[in-house]
Amino acid sequence: MKVTPSGQACGAEVTGIDLTLPLSSEQIEHIRIAWLKHHVLSFPDQAMDDDDLERFTRYFGAFGHDPFFDPIEGRQHIAAIRRDADETSPLFAENWHSDWSFQEHPPAGTCLLGITIPPVGGDTLFANQHAALDAMLPDMRARYEDLTAIHSAGLAYAPDGAYGEKDEGRSMAIRPDESARETQTHPLVRDHPETGRPGLFSCLGYIIGFEGVAQEEALPLLQRLYAWQSREEFIYRHKWQAGMLVMWDNRSVLHCATGGYDGHDRLLHRTTIAAYQA
Ligand code: SIN
Repeated sequence: MKVTPSGQACGAEVTGIDLTLPLSSEQIEHIRIAWLKHHVLSFPDQAMDDDDLERFTRYFGAFGHDPFFDPIEGRQHIAAIRRDADETSPLFAENWHSDWSFQEHPPAGTCLLGITIPPVGGDTLFANQHAALDAMLPDMRARYEDLTAIHSAGLAYAPDGAYGEKDEGRSMAIRPDESARETQTHPLVRDHPETGRPGLFSCLGYIIGFEGVAQEEALPLLQRLYAWQSREEFIYRHKWQAGMLVMWDNRSVLHCATGGYDGHDRLLHRTTIAAYQA
């Protein structure tokens, strides 16, 4: 197995391994070590099907719980990230986020398998949130360090949210629900549960405020933070190929979809890896 770093703020390509075959505990450990080091791993040229995707996901934990999506037919834990060539609804996930950070135990990771990949556009961006924290000047870090963030899926998945009842013509099976308004708190700066390395967790969008901070103050704080978290120097731009599997660490990176492929289909199958239990 060969791990080649992207040369950007995170990300590495892994070759010399066939993910259509069961992996040995040694191979799984090598992948886990590389994942924790590089935060985003891509495995090109994998002829994986949905069984292979599920088996690979389970090497790294239980399946996470994916709310507000219907799974694909015949599977409980695979969602389709899909956009049809003629679709005109706003792009899905074209904003920085950490998957399902509004949950009590957000997923440790996400796996995404490229099935139909457009010839142009559709890159996924990843922003390294350890690097974003490390680069803060002391004054800025002191302002954010001890904040407790309030997370909610309401802006996206409530009936009046971005993917709510007014969102028409979308090919993805998104199911908005009132439960999206529920809130959950997490420290904004927290140690990675496996490496112990501190980082920023999640961002404006799923974070809707801070405990004990008035909204008039919280919103500019969140906007300033969002601009910082997504600075160019923290970003890895991932270019997809069909048959490529990517796994990322939601505890270390934010990610963001991009467009630029109007007139082309795009389809990927996604699973989440549940929170790590020590
Ligand atoms: C996602 O946020 O799960 C999707 C990312 C993408 O479509 O590039």
